[in-house]
Amino acid sequence: MRSDVVVGLGPAGPNRPSTLASDMASTPLTAASDQPAALVIRGGRVIDPASGRDEVADVAIDRGVVRAIGRRLPVSKGVRVIEAKDRLVVPGLIDPHVHLREPGQEHKETIATGGAAAVAGGFTTVCCMPNTSPALDSPELVDFVHARAKATSPCRVFAVAAATRGRKGEELTEIALLARAGAAGISDDGDCIASAGMMSRVLAATAASGLAFMQHCQEPTMTRGAAMHAGERSLRLGLGGWPRAAEEIIIERDVRLNRGIGCRYHVQHISSGESVEIVRRARAAGQPVSAEASPHHLLLTDEACEGYETNAKVNPPLRERKDVEAVRQGVADGTITVLATDHAPHSVDEKSLPFEDAPFGLIGLETALALYAEALVATGLIDWPRLIAMMTLEPARLCNLDRLGLGRLTEGGVADVTVIDPDAPWTIGPECLRSKSRNTPFMGRAVRGRAVATIVNGRVVTG
Ligand code: DOR
Repeated sequence: MRSDVVVGLGPAGPNRPSTLASDMASTPLTAASDQPAALVIRGGRVIDPASGRDEVADVAIDRGVVRAIGRRLPVSKGVRVIEAKDRLVVPGLIDPHVHLREPGQEHKETIATGGAAAVAGGFTTVCCMPNTSPALDSPELVDFVHARAKATSPCRVFAVAAATRGRKGEELTEIALLARAGAAGISDDGDCIASAGMMSRVLAATAASGLAFMQHCQEPTMTRGAAMHAGERSLRLGLGGWPRAAEEIIIERDVRLNRGIGCRYHVQHISSGESVEIVRRARAAGQPVSAEASPHHLLLTDEACEGYETNAKVNPPLRERKDVEAVRQGVADGTITVLATDHAPHSVDEKSLPFEDAPFGLIGLETALALYAEALVATGLIDWPRLIAMMTLEPARLCNLDRLGLGRLTEGGVADVTVIDPDAPWTIGPECLRSKSRNTPFMGRAVRGRAVATIVNGRVVTG
């Protein structure tokens, strides 16, 4: 078991990351055998959205803490140096929406392999969804995930716990206890809370816990038998169509239900242009509503399903160019504040089934950074500091991880750091993947931008 890696336990947990400058103030910057080795990341563009820092500097790390950020920091003998000229040095990336499949579906992924995929992609923290088998609907199961992560994952893992027992939408879980166990959010992801009555109760209980509720927005009676976006293509391919309204009416309903409750309400994997507009209006009205965009919804349309390509079968489905443009616009104008992969591994056998029978989902941890950069930075919609904010500070706030000192890069803070080469050209191929699964529609795509070192709690886990 790795003793250096702090995993996702709640604020009261024994593995709470140290954030105290005074803990480290008098520690010399030299290696200690029982601790992560001391490290200096030299000469990179240090971006910390929380403080607004954006400057060329060195970052000195020792025993899991950022000791100093500044120009030409002294380096003692035995200290490892990572040269970071022309690279970005940013807070460790955080993905608030992944599927790690453990317990129950370890042939697709485990917490260990999902964690390996995460650090390969520059993520130091991921939040895993509760649609495991059994579902993460009790404090014991939240504890299980956190303990497995501590034992096997190179990155921090926080569980998002289920809102209803078995994610069946019928019986409320003990949300206060799930929060106390260290859950990073509440969601029945994979399924929508379909009943308005149940949803009201979920919002009220989640609001009281201080966590955010993350909704998988899918009106189930409208998507029965649906395999892809409802449009000209689904008709031509003879596949069941999934209308945009199935997503939109749930967001409309929830925003209305939440008016008198005030729960932090988060729309997962937004796919429809009109959904973006609903979120925009709710935010303008002062409602505590946020939304996330996934790489595939920022880049691909239902055209990717041509040839019955099951790696492009995803829930919610890939839509049309105007939706992609609207989701991008939502990022550009600040309506969408969080980026999340929805990393959803499935085996080759499962994805080899006929399109209608294959499971929904695609992997994203290793490829997300380059794909976000392509969709959002190369297009001039946002700059690197904003992209980094959407992958660090914003998800940290969503999941209350900012309270643990995650999502920022400051002196005396947690030494979770990602070093990015923003110009590195590479081609997405199976050799780049650490996930157990291979289900990505981006295989063979030429991309630019890559994490070259991932540092978790002061230890270099890739690079
Ligand atoms: O495509 C998806 N796959 N969307 C989800 O919401 C769930 C996920 C999964 O668990 O496979």
